[in-house]
Amino acid sequence: MPSIAREVVLGVGAGIAAYKSCELLRRLQDRGYVITVVPTPASLNFVGAATWQALSGRSVATQVWENSHEVSHISLANRASYFLIAPATADLIARIAVGRADDLLTNLILASNAPIMIVPAMHPQMWNDVATKANVATLRSRGFLVMEPDIGRLTGSDSGQGRFPAVASIIERFDEFTGNVRDLEGKKILISGGGTREAIDAVRFIGNRSSGKQSIALAAAAALRGAEVKLVAANLDTSSLGTLAVHHVESTAQMRLALAEEFASCDILIMCAAVADAKPLRSTLGKIKKALYTSIELEPNPDLLAELSGEKANQIMIGFAAETSDLIPSARVKLESKGLDIIYVNDVSDGAIFGKETTSGIILTRTGEEIALKEVSKDALAHLLLDHALRQLG
Ligand code: CTP
Repeated sequence: MPSIAREVVLGVGAGIAAYKSCELLRRLQDRGYVITVVPTPASLNFVGAATWQALSGRSVATQVWENSHEVSHISLANRASYFLIAPATADLIARIAVGRADDLLTNLILASNAPIMIVPAMHPQMWNDVATKANVATLRSRGFLVMEPDIGRLTGSDSGQGRFPAVASIIERFDEFTGNVRDLEGKKILISGGGTREAIDAVRFIGNRSSGKQSIALAAAAALRGAEVKLVAANLDTSSLGTLAVHHVESTAQMRLALAEEFASCDILIMCAAVADAKPLRSTLGKIKKALYTSIELEPNPDLLAELSGEKANQIMIGFAAETSDLIPSARVKLESKGLDIIYVNDVSDGAIFGKETTSGIILTRTGEEIALKEVSKDALAHLLLDHALRQLG
């Protein structure tokens, strides 16, 4: 089953239409694409780095040497599944056509093999100039998708072909370009992720090492495929998901309330969160002094999945399990006891730790299927689980 890639570099050229790409970015995030914005240095005259940073939830650089300690340009180029350059000026198109690498964006374009879609916006005389025409023809001959600009009035009194196309039509072309299948349109998917924390006192808590990356991948994949997504996020940074609906929670009790609110109306529940199995019997509002901090009495938390499966109507329920031995028998027991349709059992033996980019394990279904996965990306697992859930929904 192919994974639907969603890491996109949004390149922004120095045109007035740059401000429209803020909206474009938001709408792309709504559809589950995860965006890194790479503006050209001159484009910051139109929209500043702080805006792109706030909207994308990721750091923004215009030159190769900025932030290179965080993400090198080669790793960013390798990570991107697609490039969308919008708006592209005549100058940017020319620089790409001749293979220059004089800023971060053009470096990335040279260093990456990802498919590139270009959305030009410029004055009609520049668009119709023979040099621009030749550059666009060169890019198209190399497999770039170059959209035609719209015809109409420009920022000044002039009109002609050169306008930045409507955001909706850019998105339509981009979805076609990436092969984005909207097979979850009309479905409501409730996902829990992260790890719950149980307060011991004002400063301490019982928590776990769940990174929440799998739930972010699931939320983005489901949104990309057209689902209405609700994410209940325990202690998780969800900024890369843009405007997706998120309930932020801290404790198991808060997660229980948020899930109860959403469960009845969902079609699929994916319980990806690492729920703290127990909480302190007593938690103190103030800070416990270290001399008195010697033992903690615990009481069990409710099993949220088991509780919800008792209220299940037609929902498909997916659970996760982390095991070090007897993977399949242990997971089958959980599948039955928690009333699940699908369980993904994560193999956390041989030191596999939370927070990795890949996962190894087995998908087990109520209908007896067993699909073993070795070192696949969390995106790929997200899409596989959604494929199975959709099949079971019928
Ligand atoms: N889960 C839950 N409520 C809990 C504990 C776990 O809903 N209090 C869910 C998790 O979100 C996961 C699944 O149950 O989808 C399995 O979690 P796991 O921790 O592997 O299993 P446990 O039931 O806690 O069993 P054990 O720790 O004994 O393996």
